[in-house]
Parts: sequence; structure tokens; C-alpha cells
Amino acid sequence: MMRDIKIRLMELSDSKRIHEILINPKFSLFSPEPKSIEETIFWINKSSKSAESGTGYHYIIKLNEEIIGGISVKIFSHRRHIGEIAYFIDEPYWGQGIVVEAIKLLEQKCFNDLGLTRLEAVMELKNINSEKVAIKSGYQKEGLLKKVIIDKEGNLKDVYLYAKTL
Ligand SMILES: CC(C)(COP(=O)(O)OP(=O)(O)OC[C@H]1O[C@@H](n2cnc3c(N)ncnc32)[C@H](O)[C@@H]1OP(=O)(O)O)[C@@H](O)C(=O)NCCC(=O)NCCS
Repeated sequence: MMRDIKIRLMELSDSKRIHEILINPKFSLFSPEPKSIEETIFWINKSSKSAESGTGYHYIIKLNEEIIGGISVKIFSHRRHIGEIAYFIDEPYWGQGIVVEAIKLLEQKCFNDLGLTRLEAVMELKNINSEKVAIKSGYQKEGLLKKVIIDKEGNLKDVYLYAKTL
């Protein structure tokens, strides 16, 4: 079967499936896993509001009509030409290059529709898979930023900064 990868804005009705994907303990290098379905619903609600106000856009990734991940862009409030992207894929679908395809779809929206001229991606130093995705997607490594991400234990972690500019 031909592979059909699409993205569309996340909706409240996606909560159950998105929650199921995010509670995977192997996502520890991503944002802290949601403690309850209520927390996921709260997060998706907030995402919808940010789309309305134009401060950020959260999409679900669909493979042949099944929800298998998410991808987002947050617009910098003080420099509105810059966006930070983030992504996740359900574990059974890792290693198939799906997120790289989803990034291309997101970039069309960011560069063509939203008028952004710079996209950033940051990841913990240990998140080799995420770094490989950024490299395969044509992002340049610009440096190492100190104490950016707060992990589950409340510690501040360093990240690599990757970026693509128009
Ligand atoms: C990071 C992530 C989005 C990558 O998505 P993906 O669609 O698997 O990406 P790719 O298929 O391009 O694979 C990327 C790398 O993952 C590694 N990988 C592939 N299959 C894997 C598997 N089954 N298990 C572990 N790692 C695997 C490979 O090293 C691959 O690199 P390669 O292309 O040089 O072989 C995904 O692993 C994920 O959702 N992780 C948890 C959330 C997260 O950390 N998000 C990023 C936050 S910065």
C-alpha cells in the first residue's frame, strides 16, 4: 500500500490516542509525560487556543488515516519570524522516516503560509534520534545552549540548537 502521510490541526477528539502515545516511558527525552488523560486534554485545549491567537500550531501526524504522532511550531513572541518545531511518533512507527516527511509538510505551512523565515529545533544532548531527524531534514547545528529544558526531576538540561533559514 502507498504510504499516505498527512498533518492536520490537533482536536480535542484526538486526546485519547495522543495520550496513549505520550505515556510511553521511552519519551523521557521529550516533554514530561502527562500524568492523566485530563492533563492531555488540558494541553490540547491550550494548543487550540494558541492556534486561534496565532502563537503556535499543534498538528497530529496521520499515516493512512491512523493517528501516529504529533508535530508543532511555536512562534517566538518577541521575534515573530522565528518558530520552534517539536515532534513525536508512536514507538511502533519509529525508524520509518515518517517524521522527516511530516517536517516537510509543517515547513510548507511555516514558510509559505505563516511567513516564518527561521525554524529552530532543540533537543537534549542524548536524544540522538531527534538529532538525526534534524540533520536529515536539512537543519544546521548552530550550537549548544546551556540549561534550557526542565526535565522530570526539575533539573535544567543543556540542548543542541539546530536551525533552518529561508
Ligand atoms: C525522535 C523521533 C521523533 C524520530 O522519529 P522517526 O520517525 O523514528 O525518525 P526516523 O525514522 O528518521 O529515525 C531517526 C533515527 O532513529 C533511530 N531508530 C530507528 N528505528 C529505531 C527503533 N526502532 N528504535 C530506536 N531507534 C530507532 C535510527 O538511528 C534513525 O536514524 P537513521 O535514519 O540514521 O537510521 C522519535 O524517535 C520519537 O518520537 N521519540 C520520542 C519523542 C522525542 O524524543 N521527540 C523529539 C524531542 S526533541
